[in-house]
Amino acid sequence: LLSTAFTMTMALGASTAIAACDDGEVVIKFSHVTNTDKHPKGIAATLLANRVNDEMNGKACMEVFPNSTLYNDNKVLEAMLQGDVHLAAPSLSKFEKFTKQFRIFDLPFMFEDIEAVDAFQASDSGQALLDSMQRRGLQGLTFWHNGMKQMSANVPLMSPADAEGLKFRVMSSDVLVAQMEAIGGTPQKMAFSEVYGALQQGVVDGQENVWSNIYGKKFFEVQDGITETNHGVIDYLVVTSVDWLDSLDADVRDQFLTILGEVTALRNSESFAVNQANRQAIIDAGAEVRTLTTDERQAWVDAMKPVWDQFSDDVGQDMIDAAQAINE
Ligand code: LMR
Repeated sequence: LLSTAFTMTMALGASTAIAACDDGEVVIKFSHVTNTDKHPKGIAATLLANRVNDEMNGKACMEVFPNSTLYNDNKVLEAMLQGDVHLAAPSLSKFEKFTKQFRIFDLPFMFEDIEAVDAFQASDSGQALLDSMQRRGLQGLTFWHNGMKQMSANVPLMSPADAEGLKFRVMSSDVLVAQMEAIGGTPQKMAFSEVYGALQQGVVDGQENVWSNIYGKKFFEVQDGITETNHGVIDYLVVTSVDWLDSLDADVRDQFLTILGEVTALRNSESFAVNQANRQAIIDAGAEVRTLTTDERQAWVDAMKPVWDQFSDDVGQDMIDAAQAINE
């Protein structure tokens, strides 16, 4: 499998950090789904691999498989529990089979911006989420930021009524299904690697995503335009298996976690800027970016926010209150 993925990655010409691992080194395979350049997760993954391979040479070796070349997000957590891959950073929307607590991050208009997400994650309630799936064999290590989601479709979307009757791709999250139903859309859960083709062929009419994914996977080419709603977040959990982490020698584990912490602090502080650069690249490519007045945006809030009521029991009112207190 490793050599197949290697060949595929090379054939695709992706700039992938594939290290030649020496005998005796702990091999850390990191599988993710996005592009590598100009992407908050792609840049962070490459930096992490470069630092591990430099500073832990002889002890550990990291290989990064981007662009869903090894696993898509629907498969990677199962593969991790089997020991076939050691690190992943799926969006928080993709943990539905393991925990309902992450649903807070999918509730529309819960967080004003990525700084609010950061502050919530840094709180005791946020940090507790890292350990929330230990019983299921998964250990969260840290959160990596991307940014706020925007809406797009094959028709202009200025008001929620424009979404009526359209089919939307969503990540594998029931909250996102409910959110699209709340605006009269028909949601369809779909792997990230399939979205471009589905939009191009009209299998779905629209989608929601961050600027770096809309640009990185060229969704803007097969959409009428992008509406700047900032209605939700895409953020990531850097995750491994409890068993694998426990199997490491203490010095290897500590050095790896220290490097991860430093890479996280550095790259999280840049995620907003990276997304703004992607937004500009979309405009420069000639695509339409539609901004909303305060009143126009409020119509999206009014249409989507009732979804909170459906999920407040899963998430916990205390968590919702804690998140809201940060916005104020
Ligand atoms: C998506 O599926 O749209 C995103 O989770 C992809 C990603 O990892 O940013």
